[in-house]
Amino acid sequence: MTDPRIAAVGTSPLGRTDLTGRDLFSVAVTEAFEGLPDPAEIVDAIYVGNQSESYEHQIMYGTLMAEWCGLRHVPAERVEGCAAAGALALRHAVEDVRSGRRDAVLACGVEKMTAGGTAGATDALSAAFDRATEQRSGVTAPSQYALLAQRYLHETDATERDLARIAVKNHKNAAANPRAMFQRETDVETVLDSAYVSPPLKLFDCAPVTDGAAVVLVANEDVTSTLSVDDSVRVAGVGAGANNLSIADRNLTFIEGAHEVATQAYDQAGIEPSDVDIAEVHDAFTVCEALLAEAAGLAPRGKGYESPLAPEDRSAGWTDVQLSTSGGLKARGHPIGATGIAQAVEAYEQLTGTATPERQVDGADTALLINEGGVADAVTVAHVLSAA
Ligand code: COA
Repeated sequence: MTDPRIAAVGTSPLGRTDLTGRDLFSVAVTEAFEGLPDPAEIVDAIYVGNQSESYEHQIMYGTLMAEWCGLRHVPAERVEGCAAAGALALRHAVEDVRSGRRDAVLACGVEKMTAGGTAGATDALSAAFDRATEQRSGVTAPSQYALLAQRYLHETDATERDLARIAVKNHKNAAANPRAMFQRETDVETVLDSAYVSPPLKLFDCAPVTDGAAVVLVANEDVTSTLSVDDSVRVAGVGAGANNLSIADRNLTFIEGAHEVATQAYDQAGIEPSDVDIAEVHDAFTVCEALLAEAAGLAPRGKGYESPLAPEDRSAGWTDVQLSTSGGLKARGHPIGATGIAQAVEAYEQLTGTATPERQVDGADTALLINEGGVADAVTVAHVLSAA
């Protein structure tokens, strides 16, 4: 049994687009298969992360995307798990290949979020909250995460300015990422002066509403070696787990689910947190980057907000990891069902040394991905990717 490899990647434009979901997918799959045989010649199954039918009144994304890339009579499934749908799809592909059941599987994600505007997206996202205890109180994603942020600022030394620095770093990384939605830098004062969405979270603390699709080809070594790809990366570890749907009974400042699944992925990969060179974590809101750095053992408790600082300027107990080199959900964009796959695309580029020079991390050979659905760790998936 050998570890599965990611042999090819592609994304659509990420942002507010005129493209439908299927067209976004077409752009992504076309990029991924440039120079390769047609998908029908090598792909044994397809999994598609997709959050909601409310955007385009469309389900059956597995079948539709299979059709759209010329696959016939292979297993095709839409995978649901709100914003973790992409990583759940990746996990299915990885487990299929690792078990020897299949040789090559497409893991994809697609979301046409802007179809209903911000109001439509807010409503669609609220379906991820517990209907019995949360939805009927009128909470939204920003207001739920604001509870975590309020508690984090109360329990730690972090301030709104510290959270703003995370946004500034991620916009800077996005400006160096041609795939990113926001191709512009910002500064702390702009972030602090932006309007409150749900205090303490302001416009620039939030991930945007984003259209997009992303595709990765997961294959065994035999397939990878027969393809004319320059490089591939190894999926060395996977972890996945659900926590309560409602946040009422959860610890708001220790993201237990992320801690558990990151540990599973580290153990499977045989690594320690200190081995991780880059991490794409689920920074749907700036505070999440801090919380997830802590949960994944990359930062000491209460100090995750130091992620924008150079490693030598961070508190003792921090690793030298670089976070959200893509710009993260915050600035690369957050096309819900596609986000987990977009994280893998960034890791692929970093580990193969093909990221743009401005954001390429020298010598990066181990990446951690954390993708979450619902508020924080309602469901969490972690992957460890390795250049070797
Ligand atoms: N960060 C920075 N700028 C943003 C932004 C963001 N998150 N969202 C929008 N903008 C900018 C737009 O580019 C636009 O700029 P322009 O006028 O220069 O073109 C301006 O702000 C207005 O954009 P608009 O889309 O009308 O904003 P909005 O007020 O309708 O929505 C939010 C802003 C933050 C409420 C919305 O992006 C949102 O709900 N985000 C959270 C999404 C979410 O919950 N995801 C799931 C998390 S698990």
